[in-house]
Amino acid sequence: MSRITCPVLQTRVTTPELAAEQVYPGNSVGMSGFTGAGYPKALPAALALRMDRAHRRGKDFRIGLWTGASTAPDADGVLAASHGISSRLPYNSDPTLRALINSGDVDYIDTHLSHSAQNMWFGFYGPLDVAVVEVTAILPGGMLVPSSSVGNNKTWLDQAKRIILEVNSWQPRELEGFHDIYYGAALPPDRKPIQLTGAMDRIGEPYLRVDTARVVAVVETNRPDRNSDFTAPDRSSQAIAGHLLDFLRHEVKAGRMPASLLPLQSGVGNVSNAVLAGLDASEFTNLLAFTEVIQDGMLDLLDSGTLRAASATSFGLSDRGVSRFMANIDAYKGRILLRSEEISNHPELVRRLGVIAMNGMIEADIYGNVNSTHIMGSAIMNGIGGSGDFARNAFLNFFLSPSTAKNGTISAIVPMVSHVDHTEHDVQVIVTEQGLADLRGLSPKHRAERVIRHCAHPDFRDRLTDYIQRAQAARPQARHTPHLLDEALGWHQGYLDTGRM
Ligand code: COA
Repeated sequence: MSRITCPVLQTRVTTPELAAEQVYPGNSVGMSGFTGAGYPKALPAALALRMDRAHRRGKDFRIGLWTGASTAPDADGVLAASHGISSRLPYNSDPTLRALINSGDVDYIDTHLSHSAQNMWFGFYGPLDVAVVEVTAILPGGMLVPSSSVGNNKTWLDQAKRIILEVNSWQPRELEGFHDIYYGAALPPDRKPIQLTGAMDRIGEPYLRVDTARVVAVVETNRPDRNSDFTAPDRSSQAIAGHLLDFLRHEVKAGRMPASLLPLQSGVGNVSNAVLAGLDASEFTNLLAFTEVIQDGMLDLLDSGTLRAASATSFGLSDRGVSRFMANIDAYKGRILLRSEEISNHPELVRRLGVIAMNGMIEADIYGNVNSTHIMGSAIMNGIGGSGDFARNAFLNFFLSPSTAKNGTISAIVPMVSHVDHTEHDVQVIVTEQGLADLRGLSPKHRAERVIRHCAHPDFRDRLTDYIQRAQAARPQARHTPHLLDEALGWHQGYLDTGRM
């Protein structure tokens, strides 16, 4: 049975190639997509072919590309390979595009995810020419059943001059009812409190609204999301998870949180999955998640009953995770809610609910500043994503990383981070496989002692301690956060010397 039951929009069904003709050189294009879920599957490739043809004729054809977060090789990847992206926001993890950003060919606006929609409403990004949004189905009245991510789709649909919809029949039709789309947002000075006081409160509607008059094309697809496999947690990730869980036990014992903890936010990746696996094997039960992404580890927790329910903006599953989700989809209904990213990551809500935020990092310095995004201060890895939205406003935040990178040659604990995403004023707990440093309530001097003792790899501890001692000796009048600036910046030189950058 057709997924498009709206008579008006049935008349707009066309091919990806004809739909792509609605995108012009220099356009700003807002696409769906978050963590490889719910991105358009057909339009980007058709658009990339148009770009290739234009470039062969010596004509420039590039777009500004806005999404929810990361997409996939068949969206970011094909457009980047065709040199069709002039600027990109708010998050990217595609390697082809990353290389173009780092070579200076693409402007990247790395943004807190909760800010990306409101920056558009405020007019900070300029007008949006085209929205390209994947949906699961179009209902008779024109309402849209969202797909496996919501991201910024509501805003792109609201604001775009022209709209292209992709209706993907690979997405389970049963996704209807998994979404909660909030339409109450207003601009200052008319903003009102968001009426969400529990992680699973419904404050919106199950559907995305669309002005059918602006829909210029509807494309039918049947293609899977980019479902990345996770490797089994290694010893280092398991050790990180173990330290974190012990600390949560300690916090419960100290009476700072209930036995069922507070709503969890977990970044994606192997360390985060190890933490979720650790939770699943632990005594903790009856948990809630107020997070960005439902990854395999979250499904495990839901299946075992350790997690009661989870609010997010997207799925981020492996192939096996998708099969498991689809096989039991009805059992997850009511236990998983997908929201717009301006709500899933909203600072007001993260703070009200008292979220426990757990995110990866590239490096931390001895004073507690964290770099989540840059290698050697200059080359972007992915982006800040939601880590700032959650960490800054969380009840408790953790930053997690192995203590070394590149086979032990680089310390993840450094005198001064080469780029700051989360400042010493925000960062609370740093965890490596070596141990955990609780930095709450400590002055810089005590933070440094604790980070070196508990988190640095033994191969680097003496060097870091020596650095502090010499920094303290060098300037007796400047011992609050002692630094030797030349040396702090030069610390990363070893990585440069390897020729990797
Ligand atoms: N110096 C140099 N390179 C480093 C490094 C360091 N201190 N730390 C990590 N790296 C390199 C790794 O070697 C690896 O490189 P490779 O791809 O060439 O193998 C790469 O960075 C990724 O590191 P990895 O250990 O695989 O970590 P990860 O997959 O757990 O990701 C972040 C870590 C920080 C990149 C990731 O968590 C991220 O992008 N965070 C920011 C966004 C975020 O927090 N989102 C969640 C919010 S919901």
